[in-house]
Amino acid sequence: MQETPTITAAEIARLAGVGRAAVSNWRKRHGDFPEPVGGSATSPEFDLAQVEQWLRGQGKLPEVSRADRLWRHLTAGRENPATALAAVGEHLLARRRGERSSRADDQLAGLLPEVDALADELGPQGAFDELWQRFSAPGPGRPFATPDDLADLMVGLAGVGGGTVLDPAAGTGATLRAAVRAGGTAAYGQELDEDLARLAGLWLVLRAVPGEVRPGDSLRTDAFPGHTVDAVVCHPPFGITNWGLDELGYDPRWEYGVPPRTEPELAWVQHALAHLRPGGHAVLLMPPTAAGRRGARRIRAELLRRGALRAVVALPAGAAAPHGVPLHLWVLRRPRPTRPHPRGRCSSTPPTATSPPSPHGSSRPGGPSPPCPTPTSRRPASPAPSPSSSCSTRRSTSPPRAANPPSGARRRESIWYAHGSGWPPSSGSCRR
Ligand SMILES: C[S@@+](CC[C@H](N)C(=O)[O-])C[C@H]1O[C@@H](n2cnc3c(N)ncnc32)[C@H](O)[C@@H]1O
Repeated sequence: MQETPTITAAEIARLAGVGRAAVSNWRKRHGDFPEPVGGSATSPEFDLAQVEQWLRGQGKLPEVSRADRLWRHLTAGRENPATALAAVGEHLLARRRGERSSRADDQLAGLLPEVDALADELGPQGAFDELWQRFSAPGPGRPFATPDDLADLMVGLAGVGGGTVLDPAAGTGATLRAAVRAGGTAAYGQELDEDLARLAGLWLVLRAVPGEVRPGDSLRTDAFPGHTVDAVVCHPPFGITNWGLDELGYDPRWEYGVPPRTEPELAWVQHALAHLRPGGHAVLLMPPTAAGRRGARRIRAELLRRGALRAVVALPAGAAAPHGVPLHLWVLRRPRPTRPHPRGRCSSTPPTATSPPSPHGSSRPGGPSPPCPTPTSRRPASPAPSPSSSCSTRRSTSPPRAANPPSGARRRESIWYAHGSGWPPSSGSCRR
């Protein structure tokens, strides 16, 4: 039997643009108000079509567009609108290819004629975009999405230009969409949530953008082993300490040191670097604590010493969730391979208590041997050359001065605020 979409009292209130109390009053005072068809006594659910008819008859239903109405029906009574939108996207794709779609559930099947009508009006991509806009509107359902303007900034800093891009924590694909807007030629993503991965991938396929988004855990089961790109842009999850250290202790991605359990963000940073071509840039949105926690001090020092960490940009609070915290952007570059050291090649990370030698060495495809440490660069307190110093023969041993450090910010180790330090990398004059 085909299910019809249902709607709660709170959703009826939103639909009619009134408060919850008004809906309670209608139920008490109007004998013809639709009876609940499900839910419980304290949280009843109503048939959406019946409610719409009643509201329309009372002149209480604002006129809405076909896309609005379809979106309302698609999401009514569903916990996860991503599942519904992904199924609609697959239907639209199948329709464009002249195939039959197979994944629609009963509730969705009843809405496919409406989906087709919207596609007749706007084309499959236009119909998907209309629904996507409603899905991606800021709201309580998507607190961890990356805002478009921030995604554009990250893509700009990474210099995606006409290159390939990867986001290993793609979510709904905000960074991949920004990369396409900026002229990226192919977009790859991985995402733990299968529905979000389907959605982000559909957005690309419906636009015939080369690339794909694969479902799965990027840290535990990298879907793109050995694949390198021109740029990685990523807003990883923060503070997930169960990120797989037990299984991944000897993973060759940890070229700069094995991230402690409590430093998952440093695992994401190194995952990004492992997927970059030499000279390619990564930009990651990071919690500010990742720049100062003692546990990852050695890894940060290695990142700086080898020139992989190019800049840390402090954003104002409110740039993305959690909105009360002023987040950072880490700008990284995969070091270019240097000429072999006369006395032979160096291991990727000097063996230490926290970074055992990798059994795989630096054999990860796309992972060049790191530069051999020079006597000067071995000094742990020695800062990395600034981005601008790599353009000249003179190497500075002191970090670039913070042009505008946020008030009260204390400089720790060699992390710096890189305003005015030769960024972004687009000038093309900074090749080694
Ligand atoms: C902050 S959100 C990224 C938001 C994304 N940029 C967007 O605009 O939707 C982090 C994403 O990483 C995903 N994630 C968490 N752990 C993951 C893992 N181990 N591998 C892949 N994705 C993961 C989450 O499901 C979530 O969608």
